[in-house]
Amino acid sequence: MEKIAIYYGSSTGNTKDIAELIAQKLETTHIFDVALAKADFLEYDVLLFGTSTWGIGDLQDDWEGFLNKVESADLTGKKIALFGCGDSVSYSDSFCDAIGKIYKAIKEKGCTIIGKFPIDDYSFDASEAEVGGSFVGLPLDVDNESAQTNSRVNTWVEQLKTEI
Ligand SMILES: Cc1cc2nc3c(=O)[nH]c(=O)nc-3n(C[C@H](O)[C@H](O)[C@H](O)COP(=O)(O)O)c2cc1C
Repeated sequence: MEKIAIYYGSSTGNTKDIAELIAQKLETTHIFDVALAKADFLEYDVLLFGTSTWGIGDLQDDWEGFLNKVESADLTGKKIALFGCGDSVSYSDSFCDAIGKIYKAIKEKGCTIIGKFPIDDYSFDASEAEVGGSFVGLPLDVDNESAQTNSRVNTWVEQLKTEI
């Protein structure tokens, strides 16, 4: 059985709530706030990284430090999935950019990125999380589209289970 851990950064609790929801659905109790966590991934096969986007397309504050640690860690052979919260109305030009920033930092590190997600169901102008016509992880907009959160998470988690 693959061992799964979730690492999230969250400033007002939205990404934390999503991380907890995903943890429940994936039946893992290994869930860590990156403000306090060590980037010690040795005992896990699957890593989920969650971040909200702040400023204009910036990483969530606690990720600013944690991403350096992730970049220095050995991610060889890990399956990694990305998710995060953003605002596709007020920040339509930088929607969930932070997901894309984590993706860029890890994509050449010998890991497999799972959980890519279709863009069709979203409305936004630009996103660093969009690569080659799909999102590199699961973007959520609880500010404007909270009604869609549950079904998006459910679809994504089911997809992850097949990809894990
Ligand atoms: C000052 C400010 C800047 C923001 N910048 C962005 C942004 O560039 N892109 C985006 O998608 N969302 C942006 N957001 C929206 C947040 O990412 C969104 O509210 C998210 O749900 C917060 O999640 P958290 O509570 O886990 O930090 C911004 C929100 C605020 C208040």
